[in-house]
Amino acid sequence: MQFDVITIDPAVTRRNEQIEKIANTVIRGYDRAKTLLRLNGRKAPYDDLNYEFVGGPSDKLRMRHYDKSLRLLWKAEEHVEWSSFRDLTKNEKQLRDLAEDSLNASEKQHVKRMRSEEFTQMLDSEYSREQKQAIVNILSLIGHGEAYAWMVSTEVLNDVQSTGARAAVTMQVLEEAKHFVVLRELIQAFDCPIPRMNAWEYLLLERTFKAKGLEKFFGMNVIVESFALSLFGMMGTMPGLEVLRLFHLDESRHTALPKNYFEEFPMSWWQTHRPSAQAYRLSLVLPAIPILGLVERDLGLLGIDAFEFGGSMARKILFLADRAGFKVGVPREGLEVFLDWVFNLYCQHTRPNHVQRNFIASETTTGGNELAIEAEVFGLAASA
Ligand SMILES: [Fe+2]
Ligand SMILES: [Fe+2]
Repeated sequence: MQFDVITIDPAVTRRNEQIEKIANTVIRGYDRAKTLLRLNGRKAPYDDLNYEFVGGPSDKLRMRHYDKSLRLLWKAEEHVEWSSFRDLTKNEKQLRDLAEDSLNASEKQHVKRMRSEEFTQMLDSEYSREQKQAIVNILSLIGHGEAYAWMVSTEVLNDVQSTGARAAVTMQVLEEAKHFVVLRELIQAFDCPIPRMNAWEYLLLERTFKAKGLEKFFGMNVIVESFALSLFGMMGTMPGLEVLRLFHLDESRHTALPKNYFEEFPMSWWQTHRPSAQAYRLSLVLPAIPILGLVERDLGLLGIDAFEFGGSMARKILFLADRAGFKVGVPREGLEVFLDWVFNLYCQHTRPNHVQRNFIASETTTGGNELAIEAEVFGLAASA
């Protein structure tokens, strides 16, 4: 390549470089001193000397979450065709059209139904008004949760170390944004009043958002994500809610994030065992129990026992907490026995002829794929 070189006096270049070197020493030295004195030194956890974020590359984390998320990235326009989303690329649209050409008449009819305003008519033919309201009440619980998941993961992005972990959490931010906007449109399609957050949910989500540093992983990636995973795993097989199966797949990756992160950047003994942290974690779990009483009627209308759902979810929350190393002040088995006792006590007082049962052992996830995904997440599979 031929350029018309502009010649610069080497002395001028040298002088500029010397000035910069002095400025660099002063500015960085000043920031380092402030950091040592805990006085707001350099803010960015970025290691420009090594062209890396503080913490190193963490390629394993990046591959397990960022790369995997991109491989499994789904588009709303393809799966919720009646929605307002137009996120398919030209090539993806062409591929979809080609696939459609190979469908038979009844399959084409089904696809058409799912992509037009007929979707709301389909909901009306599948569900009664009361059932639709029950679905909206239940889904909006996690709809509000998705808004917080978006906000919390945005903050966690600045709490994690390493390039790989940042890439992983960036994908979570992207997926939570998609969950919030897509779920919002799905819920609105039911055309029923959408309830506000209940007090117990408000407490859980606000306190998770206010949690310090990686304690947010506990409230969000352990409790709220397990709730989302359980709910999507249970409802994705209902007519019109098939897109929730894709949400379920995303949430399964999010629940695995704390374990994968702490494998590379372990919590210190003090972070794990600090009495105030353990009490705080327990205080996040316990106030969530009354939510089950609030959704008992709505779940009942859909043929689901709220405490079977609660037991199934609690077992997953406690497993994930244990696996990530989040102590909650009480051994996991003890807490399982306690929750089972509380659930049975409640049912004894509110349900005629209640027979004592093991709610914690219940499984409310339906659908072969969802059960297989959860078996991978909860079976300690290395690729989770
Ligand atoms: Fe989500
Ligand atoms: Fe999530």
